[in-house]
Amino acid sequence: MSSSTVPPPPGSPVLRISGVNHHFGTGDTRTQVLFHNTLEVMPGELVIMSGPSGSGKTTLLTLVGGLRTLQEGQIEVWDGDRGDYRTLRGTPEPELVHVRRLIGFIFQRHNLFDSLTATQNVRMAQRLRSTTGDPDADARDLLQYLLLGTLDIQGKPQKVRFDYKPAQLSGGQRQRVAVARALVNRPKLVLADEPTAALDANSGLAVVTLLQNLARTRPDDELAALVRSGEDAGEAGRLADWQVPLLRQIATATGTTSLIVTHDARIMNLADRIVHMERGRIESNVVVAERLFVRNGLRQSAAFAAILPEEQQKIADELLVGVHPDLPVRPDQLAAHPGRVEVYDPGQDVLRVGDPVDEHSKFYLIRRGTVEVWRAPEGEPLRKVAELGPGRYFGEVALLMDQPRNATVRAATRVEVYAVDRATFDRYKTVSRPFIDRILENFGPAGEA
Ligand SMILES: Nc1ncnc2c1ncn2[C@@H]1O[C@H](COP(=O)(O)OP(=O)(O)OP(=O)(O)O)[C@@H](O)[C@H]1O
Ligand SMILES: [Mg+2]
Repeated sequence: MSSSTVPPPPGSPVLRISGVNHHFGTGDTRTQVLFHNTLEVMPGELVIMSGPSGSGKTTLLTLVGGLRTLQEGQIEVWDGDRGDYRTLRGTPEPELVHVRRLIGFIFQRHNLFDSLTATQNVRMAQRLRSTTGDPDADARDLLQYLLLGTLDIQGKPQKVRFDYKPAQLSGGQRQRVAVARALVNRPKLVLADEPTAALDANSGLAVVTLLQNLARTRPDDELAALVRSGEDAGEAGRLADWQVPLLRQIATATGTTSLIVTHDARIMNLADRIVHMERGRIESNVVVAERLFVRNGLRQSAAFAAILPEEQQKIADELLVGVHPDLPVRPDQLAAHPGRVEVYDPGQDVLRVGDPVDEHSKFYLIRRGTVEVWRAPEGEPLRKVAELGPGRYFGEVALLMDQPRNATVRAATRVEVYAVDRATFDRYKTVSRPFIDRILENFGPAGEA
């Protein structure tokens, strides 16, 4: 891949799907299978797409890859060589070829060439690169890492498959050759449809870890945790010691984004974003880091600490906007999830001391930025008592006590807050009432904002 590849502008996705519908058949047999699908995928994300059979996953993936004509809506794929998006709607075939060149496909029908060996199949797809280095060695390194070379998962010598033709390989081995072929050019976008379906736990994990390491370098201790003994690995699979350095070496070009259809729960644990489809619709789109961030934030507050983890998760999920907490929320993303996140400019008050509490009052979790908490002890002027940053909450005491706000909370920077509405708050307050009473007895209502 040329070194002049540029990433999309900060905060912009590599892939944007908007309002995509799709129909199969004509006349009386015309059936709609995709409905209003909208999704953004950020650079370097590993996205898992799940959903029941027939829900439209493969159809959506083939549309994204330019393998099927886009009928309604728009799909944009970032072309780092051109420094612009390529749009897929109404795009003539010769231009679709350019789109397909940006993408590494790992599909069920892997279309290996029967007359070529494993290595030759990988080399076939390899484009000439300006980088020094031996392309043949690169193909073999990939195959070696994918357990088709000299060593097995235990590090013991095994029969080398480099020179086998597809007919002499098992289904899973063929699939791994197809993975090597899809990744040999280090594409910036990988589309994979059940890439581990025919694979055992070990080689399935190897494939996903490779995709993850092409997206960004993972710390050594994280990788080391995936190197386990056979017994420890159990159902989850493992990497071998010897695979780790090879993995690093293969994954020198980083920034690969992957969209993977899978039912494999083990792989879901490695996802950055989980998209679930039902009957042709994207029913949920969860950024795993955001989900954790919100749940951990809520959990610290007395009102939510005592409720069941499933309930905490439910409230957290009602607040998500599908944006990583490291990134600001854009106005269009705010509008797509009204009421979940509020934005304040520096100096603006989120709450004022003495504000009455009513059905519109909220409880807040800071997503980005810093707020100042100002309090006025008994007739004295307001005094700054605290600064709170991301992951901290405020506004709880007034809702718990049904009393006016006891502090002014002011944005010190541009601030984004998740807002839990009164109804939700009260629903859970009853559940955790005894716990809250204990807290209040200990700390008194002045303890928190
Ligand atoms: N070429 C086609 N012609 C007509 N209908 C089709 C065609 N391909 C898919 N469909 C229909 O579109 C719907 C979505 O199919 P799709 O293959 O996208 O589902 P999927 O989510 O990938 O399912 P699976 O998990 O079984 O692979 C299904 O109802 C299917 O029957
Ligand atoms: Mg499918």
